[in-house]
Amino acid sequence: MTGTGHSQAMADEAERGALNAEHLREANANLVLATVNAQTMAEASAQAAVQLREANEHLVVATVKAQMMTEVAEQATAQMVYRAKLEGELLEARKLEAMGVLAGGVAHDFNNLITTIMGYSDRGSLMVEPGSELARFFKAIDKAARKAAELTHQLMAYAGQEEILATEVDLCIVVKEVIQLLAASIPRHVQVRSELAVLPLVKGDPTQIFQIVMNLVVNAAQACPAGTEGRVTVRTGTEELIEAVAGAGSWILPLAAGSYATLEVVDTGAGMAPEVMARIFEPFFSTKPSGHGLGLAAVIGILRAHGGGLRVQSEPGRGSSFKVYLPVWQGLA
Ligand SMILES: Nc1ncnc2c1ncn2[C@@H]1O[C@H](COP(=O)(O)OP(=O)(O)O)[C@@H](O)[C@H]1O
Ligand SMILES: [Mg+2]
Repeated sequence: MTGTGHSQAMADEAERGALNAEHLREANANLVLATVNAQTMAEASAQAAVQLREANEHLVVATVKAQMMTEVAEQATAQMVYRAKLEGELLEARKLEAMGVLAGGVAHDFNNLITTIMGYSDRGSLMVEPGSELARFFKAIDKAARKAAELTHQLMAYAGQEEILATEVDLCIVVKEVIQLLAASIPRHVQVRSELAVLPLVKGDPTQIFQIVMNLVVNAAQACPAGTEGRVTVRTGTEELIEAVAGAGSWILPLAAGSYATLEVVDTGAGMAPEVMARIFEPFFSTKPSGHGLGLAAVIGILRAHGGGLRVQSEPGRGSSFKVYLPVWQGLA
C-alpha cells in the first residue's frame, strides 16, 4: 500500500467513525426525547387518576347528600301529617274539656237549686191533705226535681265533680240491683240475662258504679228495635292486664297493667256506624229523639275517676258490646 493510499483509508475510516458518532448522538437525543415524553405521559395519567378519584369522591358526597335530603323531606312530610292529626285531636280534646268545665260549673249550681226545690216540696207535701190535688202537685214537683237531679249528677260525673267514696263494691250485687230496678221499664221485646262469675271486690263508689251499669243496660235495651227479639246480656268476669293499654282503637281510656273485674253489656241491637261511635262519649250527643246524651259521658267520667277502663265494639246491624274494667280492691292502702 502506498502512503497516500494508506492515508486515504484512514480518512475514510475517520469519516465513517464520525458518521457513526453522529448516528449515536441522534439516537441518544431520540432516547432523551422519548424518556421525557414518557415522563410527561406518566405525570398526565397520574393527574388524571387524581382527578378521577376526586370526581368520584364528589359523586359519593353528592349521593349521600341527596339521600339525606330525601330523608329530611320524608321526615318533614311525616311530621306535617302527624302534626295535623295531633292538632285535630287537640282541638277535639279542648272542645270536650271546655264542655266539661261548662257543664260542671252549671251542674253544681243546678244541684243546689234542685235540692232547695225538693226540700220545700217535701215540706209542702207534709202540710196538705194526703190524696188531695195539692198533694198531687207536690208529688209532680218532686218527681220532676228528682229527674233533674239525676241529669245533674250525670253531668257532674262527666266533669269529675262527684265525690268518690272509695270502698269495696261487689259488681255482681250491683248488676242484680240494676236488673231488678229496670225490670218494670225494660220493653217486653227485650230479654235481659245475666251471667255472673265469682268475683273479687272492686274499689269504688257503689252509687256511681250503679250508674255505670244502669246507663249501659238502658242503652243496650234501647238499641234493640221494637218488633224484633232483642237480647241484652250482662256478664261479669276477671281479667289480668299484663301490659298497660294506650286508650286507642276499641279501648276508650288508657288503662294501667293490673288485676281488673270486668262487666260486659252485650246487646243484639242496631249497633253503631263508625261516625256515631266516634262521638258517643261527647256530652249531649244523642241519636235518640228524646235522648239527653249524658249517659255515656257520665260513664266515662266515672271510669276516669275510678282508674277504670272501657272497651267498645260495635258494628251496624250486629249489636254492641261495652266492657268495663274496674280495679280490684287491694285494701285501703
Ligand atoms: N248499646 C248501644 N247500641 C247502639 N248505640 C248506642 C248504644 N249505647 C249508646 N249508643 C249511642 O250513643 C249515644 C249516646 O248515648 P248516651 O250518652 O247514653 O245518650 P242517650 O242514651 O241519651 O242518647 C246514643 O244516642 C246512641 O246513638
Ligand atoms: Mg243513654
